[in-house]
Amino acid sequence: MRQSRDRYLAALRCMWLPVLTGMILVLVGCRGSQSERPPIHLNPNMDNQPKVKAQSESHFFADGQAMRTPPEHTIARGELREDTRLYQGRDTNGEYITRSPLPASSESLNRGRERFGIYCTPCHGDWGDGMGAITRYKYPIPPTSIYDARILAMSAGEVYNVITNGVRNMPSYKAQIPVADRWHIVNYLRELQRNGPPDSTQTMNRATE
Ligand code: HEC
Repeated sequence: MRQSRDRYLAALRCMWLPVLTGMILVLVGCRGSQSERPPIHLNPNMDNQPKVKAQSESHFFADGQAMRTPPEHTIARGELREDTRLYQGRDTNGEYITRSPLPASSESLNRGRERFGIYCTPCHGDWGDGMGAITRYKYPIPPTSIYDARILAMSAGEVYNVITNGVRNMPSYKAQIPVADRWHIVNYLRELQRNGPPDSTQTMNRATE
């Protein structure tokens, strides 16, 4: 009798580990099962914090909007844009500057060629002569040739302004092209003008092909 009780206790003693392991597995091992509730997050650290999402509602601010407009007469860090030559293409008297504020280095011209190819070529053509692919699709207003006497006479600041704000039927590209790239494009456009319009042997990608 006593012997059998000892054996029973010994059996219990070596059972506890597998039983405990089993219970833990049952508790944490619900992989694949689905629940509407978020998973148990044992160590939250700072993973979840209160925040507001763009365009969302807020009960914190009196106007009920989560998004805030900057206080009047304040400028965000790095947005001062004091350099009128660089940002507006104008000197402090408001006159267009004649030369690009960024030197026409080979890096600048390479970047300008690349950006011109992306943003200007579809309308103005590879050489800027106004024969871009768009002319094949009956674009109502022919894009200007950069070799027109009027455009040759334009100051660098004015060309920068055309890219930034658009002109008549040409849209603005300020949202797509950052300031420095606009000047790289101006530098490249000047280089194209210096080299002159393409001759008849250069017909790559031209509408008249
Ligand atoms: C969607 C087509 C389109 C794109 C892209 C485009 N342009 Fe134009 N651009 C035009 C048209 C059309 C005109 C003529 C506007 C007018 O006179 O009504 C024009 C005019 C111009 C002029 C002459 C402005 C003037 O005062 O007469 C310049 C310079 C110019 N574009 C440069 C550029 C540069 C640089 C780019 C690339 C950043 C570019 N354009 C991209 C369509 C385009």
